[in-house]
Amino acid sequence: MDLRCRVIRATSLVLAVVGLLSTVGGCRQSSGGPELKPPPADARAVAPTRDEHSYAQPDVVAVTHLALDLSLDFVQKTLSGTATLDLDWKNAAATTLVLDSRQLLIDTIEAGDGSTWATVLFEVAPSDPILGSKLTVTLGRQAPKVRLRYRTVPEASGLQWLTPAMTLGKKTPFMFSQSQQIHARSWVPLQDTTLVRFTYDAHITSPRQAMVLMSADNDPAAARDGDYIFRMPQRIPSYLLAIAAGDLVFRPITDRAGVWAEPDMAAKAAAEFADTGRMMEATEQLYGPYRWDRYDILVLPPSFPYGGMENPRLTFATPTVVTGDKSLVSLIAHELAHSWSGNLVTFATAKDAWLNEGTTNYVENRVIEALYGKARADMEKVILRNELKVEFTPANVALQPLAVKPGVLKDPDENLTSTVYTKGAWFMQFLEERVGRAEFDAFLKAYFDHFAFQSISTDQFVEYAQANLLATHPGKVSRAEFDAWLYQPGVPSTAPETTSARFDAVDAGRKAWLESGTIIPAAVTKQWTTQEWVHFIDGMPSTLTPAQITALDAAYKLTGTRNGEIAQRWYPLTIRSGYAAARPAIADFLSQIGRRKLVMPTYRALAETPDGLRFAREVFAKARPGLHPITIGSVEATLADKPTLP
Ligand code: BES
Ligand code: ZN
Repeated sequence: MDLRCRVIRATSLVLAVVGLLSTVGGCRQSSGGPELKPPPADARAVAPTRDEHSYAQPDVVAVTHLALDLSLDFVQKTLSGTATLDLDWKNAAATTLVLDSRQLLIDTIEAGDGSTWATVLFEVAPSDPILGSKLTVTLGRQAPKVRLRYRTVPEASGLQWLTPAMTLGKKTPFMFSQSQQIHARSWVPLQDTTLVRFTYDAHITSPRQAMVLMSADNDPAAARDGDYIFRMPQRIPSYLLAIAAGDLVFRPITDRAGVWAEPDMAAKAAAEFADTGRMMEATEQLYGPYRWDRYDILVLPPSFPYGGMENPRLTFATPTVVTGDKSLVSLIAHELAHSWSGNLVTFATAKDAWLNEGTTNYVENRVIEALYGKARADMEKVILRNELKVEFTPANVALQPLAVKPGVLKDPDENLTSTVYTKGAWFMQFLEERVGRAEFDAFLKAYFDHFAFQSISTDQFVEYAQANLLATHPGKVSRAEFDAWLYQPGVPSTAPETTSARFDAVDAGRKAWLESGTIIPAAVTKQWTTQEWVHFIDGMPSTLTPAQITALDAAYKLTGTRNGEIAQRWYPLTIRSGYAAARPAIADFLSQIGRRKLVMPTYRALAETPDGLRFAREVFAKARPGLHPITIGSVEATLADKPTLP
């Protein structure tokens, strides 16, 4: 063994004969629970992809089921108990199980058949800052199950523990997980790779005042008694494992959809997301049945580091989209769309992220168009594409193709680029327009069916699209045009343009104001939705004069806005324009909101000047205790990048 051993705790030795590990090709893909069709033969035949962000060896042995028995402790900020893994051995000679872990305190590991257990040897390798620790379990024989007794640390990268003060109700503590991309390993020892899918069940005990939910069969009528049982009968990859606990109540939206939130947020959120049932129907209309039973939304406290997370059956969502006017509900369309693109057909590795996020962004926009019309869908497209154009720099050329080469992506948390989302969706729109909408819809629907409950690589997508789209629609898309999207940086010349009449009006109004100071009348801006405001600010020069920025704020009261999409654009403009009057509101915004995408542009703008940097560090020092590790990491990197001040 080439491991430098840091921890060995074993009370009894089992047979020390470790079989020679030889890899076998043709990893058998297992299918999900109530799946409609068995996996197709050609998908099974494709050689297994290596996941550079996991130590697991799924071609040797694969976890098929996880059983958790954990106690949730808000005081210690830990989950502790056991994880039992069912193993499917692929290699007759192998007796070693390699798992992913990060900062887990492992007590004992036993091997057995479910009724008798024997303690086995294990080694936890030194921790890699991104990948965590390789956990090698030496079984001695091919046991059907292993049981790991462990506890998490309070700083587990995939969990956030909130004090009552950090919640809306201020009375009950809160905790939630964020496993994507590779943080499940910080709260469960497992094969933390999209190449492995497993079913799970869980028994969680907690203080009575907390309602516990998981990415599983949450019961809207569950009694809040501190003892919860969950079952997830569909096979999921580890990044979709999720848990949350707090003072949570349920509000139904339809008979299969609803909202979980703190009591003061529940009614507001249910009203904001009232169209969820129609979204589900619209998506089913396009791509076939929703296969996950219920679709509920959990609204988290503002420290949730993302906009949304597509945890199966229970989307996690930031409260920053609850604006009162449904203007940011594309987030729900997005997370719901992942029930097809991502959760059903999953990217094989993080470098294939566009298969999840690009396809989802495309589906999201189709759902928005179906519910709210083409004008809204087009505005959302234009906003994202303008962002994409400014993202491309010579420094990130290697991340600009949709198919990222192995070794380029160091930290998978850093692959939430506009390329993955927007260029990915743009590629889909390009294909749609070339072959025709009805044809493309049929293709995507068949694609979701074909690869249902499997993880696929970009190469597998290409092979499937070549056979089922390019070849069946001769003369519509050349292979060179198709490949340019996947393998070339930048936006291909074949990209279809999208225009928006409503944005043309915004552009004209902005131009008139910049040229002659004529403020767009309130009668006009009253009709604006979030999208128009966003576009209005996005199109401003990088700095305004003190007189201009003061006039704008006086006219529209943008400082102090409660809309995060507006705030994340307005505050950087005020900073670049030297508008110090916005500082108190900026401090509030940065201490109240933890969603990384919303706060980062403001931190970045502040970090551009010594005085701004000083202010940013001050605000961050106060905000830090309430922030999620993911956001803390990004802010720290931005503020530390800069030379230390005199
Ligand atoms: N799955 C992502 C979030 C994610 C991606 C977390 C990669 C960790 C690693 C989720 O579906 C998502 O895309 N969220 C977006 C919202 C969306 C409307 C674009 C977000 O959080 O901003
Ligand atoms: Zn997404």
